[in-house]
Amino acid sequence: MSPQIIASLCAVVLCLSACAATSNRPEDASKRGRLIYAKECAQCHGLAGEGGGPASLGLGGPAPDLVGLSQRNDGFFPREFVSRFVMGSLEKDDPDAAMPEFAKQGLRHVYPDGGADGEVLEADFEALLDYLASIQN
Ligand code: HEC
Repeated sequence: MSPQIIASLCAVVLCLSACAATSNRPEDASKRGRLIYAKECAQCHGLAGEGGGPASLGLGGPAPDLVGLSQRNDGFFPREFVSRFVMGSLEKDDPDAAMPEFAKQGLRHVYPDGGADGEVLEADFEALLDYLASIQN
């Protein structure tokens, strides 16, 4: 291998590790959370979490708003509840509700840094929960 090729390989490796490092910054995590929300939840829970999105209006009742989760829980964001509800380990109030079980169907990962289909990456899910916590009224 010529020195030029080795040098450019090094540049690529350096660049990749720099990119990986930046995607762990908190502001990137919250951007990723917003992106995941927009892809996976907004069609039912509304672009801004206001509830009643068009895709939730088929079966069962409309999707509730997600900006009032804290308000409905004595002012604390119910992170554990949200996490279990979204993963499908809590009973829905309405068994016919359109709310998917994400542990079964996975996140779609149409955004950068995602895993394979049908997989829910811990980091993605935490970013989503952080984003939801940040939009509470
Ligand atoms: C296809 C429509 C649909 C999608 C997509 C969807 N939801 Fe829902 N969601 C619902 C419906 C309908 C309910 C009400 C279920 C019930 O009360 O039984 C609900 C309920 C919830 C609740 C419980 C709210 C409460 O106050 O009790 C949470 C939390 C929630 N969804 C979060 C999410 C998150 C986060 C996402 C994205 C990862 C998401 N949902 C995607 C339709 C959807």
